[in-house]
Amino acid sequence: MKKVTKAVIPAAGLGTRVLPATKAQPKEMLVIVDKPSLQYIVEELVASGITDILIVTGRNKDSIEDHFDFSYELEHSLEKAGKFDLLKKVDDISSLANIYYVRQNHPLGLGHAILKAKSFVGEDPFVIALGDDIIYNANKPVAKQLIEVYEKYQTNIVGVQEVAKGDISKYGIVRPTDRYDEKNVKIADFIEKPKIEEAPSNLACLGRYLLTGDIFEYLEQTKPGKGGEIQLTDAILKMIKDDKTTLAYSFEGKRYDIGNKLGLLKANIEFGLRNEETKEGLLKYLKEEIKI
Ligand code: G1P
Repeated sequence: MKKVTKAVIPAAGLGTRVLPATKAQPKEMLVIVDKPSLQYIVEELVASGITDILIVTGRNKDSIEDHFDFSYELEHSLEKAGKFDLLKKVDDISSLANIYYVRQNHPLGLGHAILKAKSFVGEDPFVIALGDDIIYNANKPVAKQLIEVYEKYQTNIVGVQEVAKGDISKYGIVRPTDRYDEKNVKIADFIEKPKIEEAPSNLACLGRYLLTGDIFEYLEQTKPGKGGEIQLTDAILKMIKDDKTTLAYSFEGKRYDIGNKLGLLKANIEFGLRNEETKEGLLKYLKEEIKI
């Protein structure tokens, strides 16, 4: 069995839900406490054993490349000033993984962005981690959980969690069929952002997938779907209909949707309460000022 070492992060979206913050800055670079959100995702992947990451970018996304690159001037001045702790933090970022970039060119949807990864991925199994979904699990990062499911069953996997009824129409929703074990169930149907009354369950795909290279031939045949975009969900469904087993894996972890203002604020507060430097001050502030 081939080891899973590759991942793709689509990061070409315009971030319209958090404008004007994203006018001249990629949404993936918006900060959670002291790191851009994209760094949390790269760190999750690296902690899961991923060594090669392709980031699918678009226009105005140059700061992403700069962030993961060596920064000569900054590192030189931190060294001169004897700020070795900070120097290490900055330097570590540039050696996290082999990071590759490709531009999406045309914003034709998530499926189209993933298709850009075809030559990077080849035939290999690979993880997809969506930039809007930060998932916290201090013990076992969610990508690692998916990789372990792959090692057990060698199928395609979609990471899911139950969502509130009112949120169903924001996500790709699965119809479960045969149960494999407590956390894995075979998918019979997969619908992108259904209306509540048409939803086959409340099990939503929350931004993590582990797929084999087979997905690309299906993406190539996928016509624009919901919202006029080429949907990854539709390509996965075609694969399922072709009898390629795909499991919905109920992952363990707390997920933050940082593609909207409230989700971004919640992530900042909760990660701030986990951060050694900020937790005490933040808790005191919340207790005294907000009187929680
Ligand atoms: C995408 C996918 C959707 C998935 C969601 C998870 O939608 O198309 O199936 O449930 O991410 O965050 P988006 O939020 O990019 O519109």
